Amino acid sequence: MFNRTRRIRSSSAIRELVKNVSFSINELVYPIFIEEGENIKEEICSMPNQFRFSLDRLEEELTELSDLGIKSLLLFGIPKIKDEIGSGAFAENGIIQVATKYIKTNFPNFLIITDVCMCEYTSHGHCGILENCEVSNDITIDYIAKIALSHVQAGADIVAPSDMMDGRILKIRELLDKNNYFNVPIMSYSIKYSSSYYGPFRDAADSAPSFGDRKTYQMDFRNNKDYMIEAINDIQEGADIIIVKPGLPYLDIVKQVSTSVNIPVAIYSVSGEYSMVKAAAINGWIDEQKIVMENMYAMKRAGANIIITYHAKDIAKWLGGKL
Ligand code: PBG
Ligand code: ZN
Repeated sequence: MFNRTRRIRSSSAIRELVKNVSFSINELVYPIFIEEGENIKEEICSMPNQFRFSLDRLEEELTELSDLGIKSLLLFGIPKIKDEIGSGAFAENGIIQVATKYIKTNFPNFLIITDVCMCEYTSHGHCGILENCEVSNDITIDYIAKIALSHVQAGADIVAPSDMMDGRILKIRELLDKNNYFNVPIMSYSIKYSSSYYGPFRDAADSAPSFGDRKTYQMDFRNNKDYMIEAINDIQEGADIIIVKPGLPYLDIVKQVSTSVNIPVAIYSVSGEYSMVKAAAINGWIDEQKIVMENMYAMKRAGANIIITYHAKDIAKWLGGKL
């Protein structure tokens, strides 16, 4: 006797009946790049069909996203001027602060998550403040908290620190609470690897480091023991949601983390993952829609609750409000 596992795959109806991994566009977050300036809608060369928008060109895009049923946005800012300490990141009239206010006023239904980091704003492109040509952890975390507070004051619903300094979640939580923002969640990029999959993003955000790399603060993908401590530290410091990043090549980590922690786990399917799929699709080598959906289910199957993906808009179009 052998076991006939094919029995429950024998028709579309039975496959629909037994499938047990769910997917919905409610769980997607769509990243948007907002650039200081006027009349900009510029396609990002290395990320086909993703754009940098100036504020005055955002309305059309936001209307479309809203009509498509996209509910959550992750905002990245590209300032006109960069300096040593990334002043644009915490300026009251900085690009993210102004954009957040604009979206909150004109499109109040979006959930606004802001990326909290310095690399788009510093002249040297590192995610923190330099001291003797090295990124100083303890100086940086005061700035990171200040950036987070300025985003929340502008109306951000969730802040997402991506700098990978130690102790930043505690600093942010303390500062937000001191200012009575007890109910604003922190979505921490807790498990973020130093990865070449961020290449296209650094084009998009003009944020590549001018010297060295990010290996002293982002994680080394040659380890399989150090990720839990990152998650635990952040949860103890007050993170409400944790992110694993990149996505697809790191599903082993997502699986482990999502079965071990009791808070929501987001996966960030990053720029390089998007661009690789797009490039193959443009060449007609793969079926884009089918590959993208297979990837989405793979991430859900590994245990991700939330998926941050540049494909969100396409997915919403394909599903056409069906899910
Ligand atoms: C900023 C930041 C990066 C990404 C998100 N936030 C780039 C980096 O760390 O170099 C990558 C996103 C992507 O590749 O899609 N710290
Ligand atoms: Zn950064």
